[in-house]
Amino acid sequence: MGGRDDLAGLLDEQAGFYRAVAAEYDDHALALPGGGEVVAALEAFRPAGRVLELACGPGTWTGQLLRHATDVTAVDASAEMLGIAEGRVGRERVRFVLADLFEWRPDGRYDVVFFGFWLSHVPPERFAAFWSLVADCLRPDGRVFFADDGYRTVEELIEGEDSPVVQRRLTDGTAYRIVKVPYQPEDLERRLDRMGWQIKVHATAGPFYWGAGNHAPGERPLR
Ligand SMILES: C[S@@+](CC[C@H](N)C(=O)[O-])C[C@H]1O[C@@H](n2cnc3c(N)ncnc32)[C@H](O)[C@@H]1O
Repeated sequence: MGGRDDLAGLLDEQAGFYRAVAAEYDDHALALPGGGEVVAALEAFRPAGRVLELACGPGTWTGQLLRHATDVTAVDASAEMLGIAEGRVGRERVRFVLADLFEWRPDGRYDVVFFGFWLSHVPPERFAAFWSLVADCLRPDGRVFFADDGYRTVEELIEGEDSPVVQRRLTDGTAYRIVKVPYQPEDLERRLDRMGWQIKVHATAGPFYWGAGNHAPGERPLR
C-alpha cells in the first residue's frame, strides 16, 4: 500500500463497503466447511463475564456471546450494521457503540475480547497497534477469542496475490476496495507468540480458523 493518505482512503472505503452491504450481508456468507467448528469452539471457550465484541457487524456472534456473558459491549463503525444487530439481540445486557476501531479507545477493561471476521480486515500496518488495543481492553487475566478466514477469489485480487487489498462487490455490482489479509493459522500463531501472546490458532476443515488465549504471564504485548 502507498502512503498514509492512501491507507486512510482505503480504510474509509472499507468502512463504506460494510455500511452499504449491511442489508445484504448474510447473502455474502461463505457456505463452506468449518463454520460449525468455530461455533463449537466459541461454545467450549465460554465467553463469560464482561465481554467486548469488536466489529460486531449485524450481530452474527452477539447472541452466542450473550449466552455466557454478563454483558456485551459491541463496537462497529456502521450504524446500519448496529441497527440490524440491535434488531436481532435487543438491548438487554448489550451496549452498542458506533466507533472507528482505528481511533476508538476502551472505556474499561473486559474479561473477554472477541472479534469475528475482523482481523483479516486490519491492514498489516495496523496489526501491532490493533493487538496493543486488544491488550488495553483486557483485564490482567482476560482472554481473547477470534475467528476468521483467508478466503479470497481470483477475481478479487485486483492488486495481485501479494497485496492485502482486494475488491468486493455489492449485489448491484458496485465495487469497493477492502483489506483482506490471508493469514495462515500457524504463521499467525508464531507472530502473536513473538508479540507476547499465548494464543493457539486452530485451522478448520474449511477456510475458517479460530484463535483463543491470553497474554503470556507477566509479559506486556509489544507496542
Ligand atoms: C466482515 S464484517 C464482520 C462482522 C461480524 N463480526 C461477523 O463475524 O459477521 C466486518 C465488520 O467490520 C466493521 N468495520 C469496518 N471498518 C471498521 C472500523 N474502522 N471500525 C469499526 N468497525 C469497522 C464493518 O462495519 C463490519 O461490520
